Amino acid sequence: MIENMELEKFNKLYEGKAKELWETSELNYLISYYKDDITAGNGEKKDTMLRKGILNQNICTIIYEYLHEHKVPTHFIKSIGPREQVVKKLKIIPVEVIIRNYAAGSICRRYNLPKGHKFKTPLLELFYKDDSLNDPLVVKDLVLEMEWATAYELQEITRQAHIINQRMVEFWKQYGITLVDQKFEFGLDNDLNIMLGDEITPDTQRLWNKDGESLDKDVFREGDDLDEVHSVYQYIYDLISKETEMTDGC
Ligand code: ATP
Ligand code: TYD
Repeated sequence: MIENMELEKFNKLYEGKAKELWETSELNYLISYYKDDITAGNGEKKDTMLRKGILNQNICTIIYEYLHEHKVPTHFIKSIGPREQVVKKLKIIPVEVIIRNYAAGSICRRYNLPKGHKFKTPLLELFYKDDSLNDPLVVKDLVLEMEWATAYELQEITRQAHIINQRMVEFWKQYGITLVDQKFEFGLDNDLNIMLGDEITPDTQRLWNKDGESLDKDVFREGDDLDEVHSVYQYIYDLISKETEMTDGC
C-alpha cells in the first residue's frame, strides 16, 4: 500500500509559482512541495511570505482528508512533512475550472457585475491553462475542437466540480465562512481515472467572513502588508485544524 511506503525524492519535475513537483521512487507518485512564494496576476505581483508553504500544505491536507471522507476522488495520498505531500501523478487536463457561488474578481471586471452578487446556481467557467496567454476564458466547443479535453472528460470534470463545490460550501459553512469561488485542476491517473489534482487553499478559494472581509489571497492581491496576509492564512489554519497537530517540524 502506497500509504505505508516511504518514498524517496528523485528529480525535480517542475517548479511552478507556488509548488515544486518531484519524481519519486514510485513511477506513478510525486511529491508536491509547497514554497513560500506568493504571486498574483499570473506572477506580475510576487513576494515571499515566511511559512506560507507550511500553512498552505497543512490547510490543503485537512481539506483533502475531508474530501476523501466524502468519497471525492483526488490525487492526494498523504502529507509527509511540513511542506510535502505524496500525490498520484496525473496527466493534467489543460483546462482550469472556476466555480463561483458569488461574484468577485475577474468576473466582476469582465462583465461589470456587482461584487457579492449571489448566483442562482453555481456558475462554472473554463479557462485554457497557458501562462503565456494569461489563462484565457474558453468555451467548450474550442476545448473539444483543440482536443484539450474530450467530451467525456469535460462532462466528468463539470460533474465533479459541482460536487466538490457543494462539499466545500458545507465545509466552510461550519466555520461561518462563505465560499465565494474556487479554482480546480483535474487530471487522469495511470488507470485513466479522472480526479482532482493540484491544491485547495486560500490561494485557490475566495473566503469571506460574516462581515464580508476576505480571508484568502485577495488580502495579498489588494494590499501590501504581508503580516496581514500571514495572519489571515494562520487564522484559517487555526480555525479548521481543531485537534490536528500542525506539521511544522523545521
Ligand atoms: P500553473 O500556472 O501551471 O498552474 P503554477 O506555477 O501556478 O503553475 P504551482 O502550484 O506552482 O502552479 O505548480 C504546480 C503544477 O503542478 C501545476 O502546473 C499543476 O497543474 C501541476 N500538478 C498539480 N498536481 C499534479 C499532479 N498530481 N500530477 C501532475 N501535475 C500536477
Ligand atoms: P478569478 O476571479 O477568475 O481571477 P482573479 O483572482 O484574477 O480575480 O479567480 C477565481 C478564483 O480562482 C479565485 O478564488 C482565485 C482562483 N484562481 C486560481 O487559483 N488560479 C488562477 O490562476 C486564477 C486565475 C484564479
